Parts: sequence; structure tokens; C-alpha cells
Amino acid sequence: MIKTALLYMSEQPKLQHLAMRMELSRRTARRFVAGETIQEAVEAISRLNDQGFSATIDYLGENVSSENDALRATNEYLQALDEIQKKSADSNVSLKLTQFGLSIHEEMTSANVERVVLRARDYNNFVRVDMEGSPHTDSTLRIFRSLRQKYENVGIVVQAYLYRTEKDIEDLLQLKSRIRLCKGAYKEPPTIAFKKKIDTDRNYIQLMKILLKSGIYHGIATHDPAMIQATKKFAKTERIANEQFEFQMLYGIRRDLQSQLIHEGYKLRVYVPYGEEWYSYLMRRMAERPANLFFVVRNLFRG
Ligand code: FDA
Repeated sequence: MIKTALLYMSEQPKLQHLAMRMELSRRTARRFVAGETIQEAVEAISRLNDQGFSATIDYLGENVSSENDALRATNEYLQALDEIQKKSADSNVSLKLTQFGLSIHEEMTSANVERVVLRARDYNNFVRVDMEGSPHTDSTLRIFRSLRQKYENVGIVVQAYLYRTEKDIEDLLQLKSRIRLCKGAYKEPPTIAFKKKIDTDRNYIQLMKILLKSGIYHGIATHDPAMIQATKKFAKTERIANEQFEFQMLYGIRRDLQSQLIHEGYKLRVYVPYGEEWYSYLMRRMAERPANLFFVVRNLFRG
């Protein structure tokens, strides 16, 4: 119930407007968001790098409705790549296609993202295309495939809660795509997605095995100890070295587990969001773990 309510709230522009004006929510966001500027984000990444983590940077924002906003996001990503390069930070970038204009025009979106992929290629860096809600799955995959046919330095995300994902992975592996596997963060109907955690988890493990056996470098993105354990166990049984894949987790979430994996000799990439548009991102994190709401309440009493 709480999860559904929070996911609903994540999509309400009026609530977004209100929350973003409240100092309390801004302070809460800082637990999960590295800052509002690229400089703050790269500083946070440098600290993570010092502790042995690599990173992927995400300029927050989605569902832009004007070409100008799409262009603004594109330019921000170009600047982010420049800053990463300038500071020699160990970080690639993750982006959402609706922030690049997907709800306006597919060709324009593709052209915007191509500029980012090209800049990343100049720096020997990499671009990850995040996966959004199901209305965008086909177009996201279409744009990704056309980019992947031209460039090596672009990867994609798939969601284990969707029934279609095993087939999508099969197609993506034919293009030798680098894939991030996550469970999926959006509100989806039972006609297309598993609703029970146990079913998503079972599918996640099955898909993880397909990815690890493919011989391509993939990202296993989860904070779930059971998924992590299953991945470690499978890699060991199949003699897949720690360098052949990476775990990925979100900034500020399960920092204990993040450090533990590094100490055990695994690779771990932290997804570092920054920017002013933190509302939807924060609400999805709350929905994943309503216990995070206690964190909000605690901040409230701190005054
Ligand atoms: P699950 O939600 O089952 O949680 C397992 C355990 O992890 C919990 O019991 C708790 O201990 C911990 N945990 C999980 N979420 C937490 C939170 N918010 N706060 C505190 N503890 C938490 N989704 C998507 O649809 N498209 C995308 O492109 C991406 N990209 C992405 C990148 C990276 C690096 C990560 C880690 C995740 C994503 N996601 C995503 C989000 C993903 O789909 C999923 O919603 C979250 O990772 C939560 O799922 P878990 O696998 O962590 O397990």
C-alpha cells in the first residue's frame, strides 16, 4: 500500500513542486543525492574512488517536455564528462532517454545521446542508458540498438520484474551489449511484470546467470543480500573471476554492504545522482524501502 502510494506520488508534478521548496525534503535528499552541481558530484565521486569504488554519474531529471530542456540536459552531460576527465575521476555516466526528449521526438533524442556517446568516446569513457517505465521500453531499446551498432562505449539496463526481459537479453547479447541488471523501480501492471518479490528474485537470479556466462562485462545492480550471495556463488562455481563483472549500488544505500564487497575483492560501482530534480528519484527510493521514511521523520525532529 505504502509502496504504491509513494510510486504514485513520485509521478505527481504538484507534489514535486511543493517538496522541492521545502528545506526538509532538500536535506533528506542529500542522504541519497550527492549535491546539486556537477562539482559537488565529482567531489563525492573522488571520495568514493579513494575508498576503492568506481562510480556512474546521473544528472537527475526525466520526462522533459521541451526541446530546450532536452538540449540543456545534453549539455549538462557533456560538461559532466569534461569534469570527470578534468578531475581524473573513475566514473562513467548514466542517463535517462526521457530527459533527452524521448516523449517529444525519437530522432532528436537519439541525436542528443549520440553527442554524449561521442564525447565519452573521446575520453575513453562509457555511457549507460537507464531503463524507465514500460511505455518507454521499446523506444529505449530501439535507440540503444542503433547506437550500439555504431559505438562500443554504450550499455543498457534491463529490469528483472518484466516478463519480456529474458528475450530482450538474448537480443542484446547478440550485439555484445554490456548490460546492467536491476529488479525494476516503476509501477507496472501484472500483465507485463511480476508483482511478487519472490518471482522477481527468481527471475533476477536466472538472468544474472545468463549474463555472467556470456563472457561480456556486465553490472549486477542490487542491494539485496540474497541476489549478491547468489551471484558470488554462481561466479565461484563457474570460475568467473571478480574482474569479469561488477556489482552496482545506489549512493547512500547499504553503505555497509558496499564496503564489505570491496573488502572481499569484488568490483563495485556506485550510482551517484546529482542535480535539482531529485524529487521523483527520492520517492522511488522511499517506495523501495518505506523504512526510509523514518529517516525523513528523524530529520524533521532535528529541526
Ligand atoms: P530489493 O528492493 O528487493 O531490496 C533488497 C534489500 O536491499 C532491502 O531489504 C534493503 O535492505 C535494501 N534496499 C533496497 N532498496 C533500498 C533503499 N531504497 N533504501 C535502503 N535500503 C534499500 N531501476 C530501473 O527501473 N531502471 C534503472 O535504470 C535502474 N538503475 C539502477 C542502477 C543501480 C546501480 C541500482 C542499484 C539500481 C537501479 N535501479 C534501476 C533500481 C532497481 O530497479 C531497484 O528498484 C532497486 O535497486 C531496489 O532493488 P534491490 O535489488 O536493491 O532489491
